Amino acid sequence: MLGSNNYLGLTRHPRVVQATSDAVKRYGTSMTGSRLLNGTTVLHERLEELLATFFGAEACLTFTTGYQANLGTISALVNRRAVVVIDKADHASIYDGCALSDGEMVRFRHNDVEHLEQTLAKVTQEKSALVAIDGVFSMGGDIARLPEIMEVCRRYNARLLLDDAHGVGVLGEGGRGTASHFSMLEQMDLIVGTFSKSLASIGGFVTGPAHVIEWLKHFARPGVFSASMPPASVVAATTALEVLMEEPRMVDKLNANAELLRNGLRNAGFDIGASVTPIVPILIGDEVKMVNFWKELLAGGVYTNAVIFPAVPRGAGILRTSCMATHSPEQIKKAVALMAELGRRHKVIPE
Ligand SMILES: Cc1ncc(COP(=O)(O)O)c(C=O)c1O
Repeated sequence: MLGSNNYLGLTRHPRVVQATSDAVKRYGTSMTGSRLLNGTTVLHERLEELLATFFGAEACLTFTTGYQANLGTISALVNRRAVVVIDKADHASIYDGCALSDGEMVRFRHNDVEHLEQTLAKVTQEKSALVAIDGVFSMGGDIARLPEIMEVCRRYNARLLLDDAHGVGVLGEGGRGTASHFSMLEQMDLIVGTFSKSLASIGGFVTGPAHVIEWLKHFARPGVFSASMPPASVVAATTALEVLMEEPRMVDKLNANAELLRNGLRNAGFDIGASVTPIVPILIGDEVKMVNFWKELLAGGVYTNAVIFPAVPRGAGILRTSCMATHSPEQIKKAVALMAELGRRHKVIPE
């Protein structure tokens, strides 16, 4: 399995599985309502407290998916008098949050701080701005230039939303993500995350100042008009976070595996772009060539992700690979050997 987002392998951790099945027996299968009506339990509140503590934030609000966390946060904060400025390579949920908001959306070139600065210089003349970026980019596996981006935001009095879906559990002290990686946790305005990757569940969250989180509770439409996370999902995420807090070395194991995967693929001659994380894309371009390569890898026992438009631009097909903390080095080496053999056959790398 070189194509999941189960970075820490916690979906099958015995404690996570046990606590989740106990939660279903005790609390039932669904909340059948939104957070503001009948969809709040002590379990939801406990998870929010734990996340706020983990990230050193004042408060936290959970959503039923990470997609909804971006949708709700951006649309509730960006009104007619504001602009949301996003990185071109941001996740679709950020784009869709902009579409749902009443404000204008402007994009800057991927991770290009100079272009961000030019954009903010223009838009902040008349309006206030929220900058929204991914911490770790979900297709490229590269990391946002957070220190420089934050510096520019502060200069133009813009707020920053960091979507760290792929940074949490992967980067930083004890898996606290991209902001922690740059020792910037205490400077952050808003961190959005998901439970559907390292945290072995489904659901999403945003952390930030208490008054902003209070606003979101009442005005983030996906939180108000959609049923809340079921108890099983809440408990799975809570237990996964507890396991991560007790065993932070899992993150080191993940990153050692990621280095092995990146070096193995690079040494075999693959173009892995700017990846510095466990997300390691193989840049191929021609979609048909990429899908044929993907199919043979699957037949050979290695699952990867075939990624085409609209997740990447047309004609920029990639094979997205990603490793887990629970892989053995032997598994990674074996997969890389098969990729090298089939990569030569499919002319992805020279023979
Ligand atoms: C960067 C990023 N943000 C948000 C999401 C949405 O997360 P979820 O799967 O919890 O809806 C994803 C998932 O694909 C993602 O990659």
